[in-house]
Amino acid sequence: MDIHNQVLRQLRNRRDGFSLEQPFYIDQDYYQLDLEMIWYRDWLFIGHDCEVAKPGNYVTLQIGDYPVLVIRGRDGEIRAFHNTCRHRGHRVCTKDTGSAVRLVCPYHQWTYQHDGSLMSARHMGENFDKSQYGLKPVHCRSVAGYIFICLAQEAPDFAPVHAMLEPYMVPHRLSEAKVAHQNTIIEKGNWKLVWENNRECYHCAGNHPELCRTFPEAPTATGVQGAADDPVIAEHWARCESAGLPSEFVMSTDGQYRVARMPLIEGAESYTMTGKRAVGRALSDDVKISHIGTMLLFHYPSTWNHLLGDHAISFRVTPIGPEETAVTTKWLVHKDAVEGVDYTIEELTHVWDMTNDQDRQIVEENAFGIRSPAYEPGPYSQAHEGGVMQFVEWYSNFMINRLQGDQAKLSVVA
Ligand code: FES
Ligand SMILES: [Fe+2]
Repeated sequence: MDIHNQVLRQLRNRRDGFSLEQPFYIDQDYYQLDLEMIWYRDWLFIGHDCEVAKPGNYVTLQIGDYPVLVIRGRDGEIRAFHNTCRHRGHRVCTKDTGSAVRLVCPYHQWTYQHDGSLMSARHMGENFDKSQYGLKPVHCRSVAGYIFICLAQEAPDFAPVHAMLEPYMVPHRLSEAKVAHQNTIIEKGNWKLVWENNRECYHCAGNHPELCRTFPEAPTATGVQGAADDPVIAEHWARCESAGLPSEFVMSTDGQYRVARMPLIEGAESYTMTGKRAVGRALSDDVKISHIGTMLLFHYPSTWNHLLGDHAISFRVTPIGPEETAVTTKWLVHKDAVEGVDYTIEELTHVWDMTNDQDRQIVEENAFGIRSPAYEPGPYSQAHEGGVMQFVEWYSNFMINRLQGDQAKLSVVA
């Protein structure tokens, strides 16, 4: 049986409320199918507008087999291209980030403009038509300081994503922020295990002493059910919304992305050991109240986020192999905040550095156990793991839709 039909059959027969079967977490062919059906075809968060603040600033990244380049042009526009030279395919930009007046391929110096057009190619003869050899474009959109790309020939409509995210995120003015610190960790586990772990706080009390000082482990905060019925959350939403901060839980109909503003515990304002702000300078001048909690955004399969009063943290998930995933964390502060005066990197990053490493260990031990021939799908907690069930249902429906080309609908949507 070919892999498409095998995966389709397994997902259609999936036991509801249970984890996936072993090959979804370890098998090379299943991983390849994930890349082709999801990662090569949908919108992916890659970084922030402020990382390419000036014309010529660029960032590169690798999605499966695709090297990609994102650059801001002289016209201010942010564009994405396949980072593969139209001469013989050398990567045009070989660094993670940089700034270039023109993009010069290191191999034979074919030279491209910021808009991808080929400007010069030495010794290619009189009849060489440069207009045929521009860098191949990749779909690129930016919303409220977040850059998304899509590798597909025809990208899914980005307008609904834009419409949902923009009002929630614009007040935080992340397009004017700066990345104070970032790091990338490698987790030896399938990308779906990274997400399953992210979508519940059933594990938090036993694993995250630093995070639990400020982040509520209640499933209403992390999951998909019951947030509106929680009086603490309802009051938080009312207070923030009356201050001009959209806050209520909203999820796309297919369950791929959601926004919601959640309170932190016991009057905490930020993810620090004391609960006090890590950054003296507020992230946004448009936020007029304190104690706004955390604006949670996820967009499967590539990002989850926490937007606080004093800083924001973005997380980018990048699959590396069937059992290897990179997680890149960026801490954003107001562009005028000064390190050593308004914040220290140690205090800003401590809680999530610890939390990320704890999650890495969890994911790796989870992957370790799943490799056992004795592993079989286990039941999720209805009370605490609604978010995980929602993720697995999204994944399953998304794959089924793409594999068979029709529309299954999510049943678990708050
Ligand atoms: S491969 Fe880029 S110039 Fe030759
Ligand atoms: Fe965790």
